[in-house]
Amino acid sequence: MQDEGSSSTAIAPEKRATAYRSESALSRKLYQRAGVVMPGGNTRHSTALSPYPAYVISGRGCRVMDVEGAERIDFLNNYTSLILGHANPQVTQAAQRRMALGAAFTMPTEAEVELAELLTSRVSYIDHVRFCNSGSEAVLMAVKAARAFTGRPKIAKFEGAYHGVYDYVQVSEGPAPDQWGEPGAPASVVDPGSASSVAQDVVVLPWNNFEACRTLIVKHKQELAAVIVDPLPLGIGLISPRPGFLELLREETERHGVLLIADEVMSFRLSYHGAMHELQINPDLTTLAKIIGGGFPVGAVAGSAKVMSVFDHTGNWKVRHGGTFNANPVTMTSGLETMKQMTPEAYDRLNRMGEEIRERLARMFADRRIPAKICGKGSIFAAHLTDRDLVDFRSLHGFSRTRPIYTDLCHEMLAQGIVTTARGIFGCLSTPMTELEMDAFVGALARSLTVLGYNR
Ligand SMILES: Cc1ncc(COP(=O)(O)O)c(C=O)c1O
Repeated sequence: MQDEGSSSTAIAPEKRATAYRSESALSRKLYQRAGVVMPGGNTRHSTALSPYPAYVISGRGCRVMDVEGAERIDFLNNYTSLILGHANPQVTQAAQRRMALGAAFTMPTEAEVELAELLTSRVSYIDHVRFCNSGSEAVLMAVKAARAFTGRPKIAKFEGAYHGVYDYVQVSEGPAPDQWGEPGAPASVVDPGSASSVAQDVVVLPWNNFEACRTLIVKHKQELAAVIVDPLPLGIGLISPRPGFLELLREETERHGVLLIADEVMSFRLSYHGAMHELQINPDLTTLAKIIGGGFPVGAVAGSAKVMSVFDHTGNWKVRHGGTFNANPVTMTSGLETMKQMTPEAYDRLNRMGEEIRERLARMFADRRIPAKICGKGSIFAAHLTDRDLVDFRSLHGFSRTRPIYTDLCHEMLAQGIVTTARGIFGCLSTPMTELEMDAFVGALARSLTVLGYNR
């Protein structure tokens, strides 16, 4: 096992990537201007990069160009949302045609119905859908629906899991070790921006701990409206659920009348039929976003007709759901065009490529004798610089996203023509990518590790 931060202190300052920083004079200026008008010069923490981010001008296919004119391969794809890459011609044309007809109305459009029809026809556990504008909103609406349906106040979520910015799911999103509490009964750690009372209504579950999850669900069953689970949680390093773990959650929730919410905001890109399909698990509610908006802001709460009936203003209406831009026709049209291009063959190809890049990464680390654990599934991948067994959020402690090596790596990867994140070694694929781009990623990572003196 490696010490926290050991590799970073081993890096000589002159070896740190300088190309990206020195080349980016225009980005530096933009960031200085941003600092005057936005806190931290930023509007979205996941795009923050020290000393400043590379500002982008355009994207086409799997490549983006920054304000300096440097072109790079984009392995983030707006955090997994651009499954067809940038400026896909059909999506762009469809959006432009739609824009010319008017971008938003106080009346529904056919595109809303069509996208809902497409989603319900592909995913067996979705009968009804309602659109909103982000994954966070989708999660918020799903939690409200679960409370209204069950008449119970609490939800359960996994320690470390990210589900957007709603108070209740932000509980224990990234607690420090002195806040953790017992391994079998993690503490509910509330952000300073939320009321402290939020903690009482959130049960925090330890990922992959069968016994603790069973015990906690039973303990809170009278008050528990829902368990929310992302089948491939990025906040927990993309550590896979152990075999049988998601099944256990379904069985235990069902037994006690607790709803299961599958947060597929990111993981919907794993499968044509939805991320829970291959396990034959039927969640009661599913949250969607990212790829279904074709590059535009989107979210959707979906689920069984019975549970979704809480939104039905013509029936037993329990949950109010407005939203000025819900189901706006530009998003609906672009999402529809995107999803139509995502045929079963397109998913299969991307998922095979995902397998391949994970294998190549594993080989690259092994050849260099660098301890690493490769995680991810389908077209999403991550690598953790450790030989530790990775099972849950706590097992990531010490080399997860805050570690300085990842900022250095991100700079070096940018200098080598690859867009990644400073929050770990993470990436996702888009359909315009080929072997060439996968080679480029693995090669750039290998060179970056060498430049940073990380070979052992
Ligand atoms: C699993 C999951 N849920 C919810 C969200 C929030 O979605 P949005 O950023 O669209 O609000 C994200 C965003 O990355 C996510 O990955």
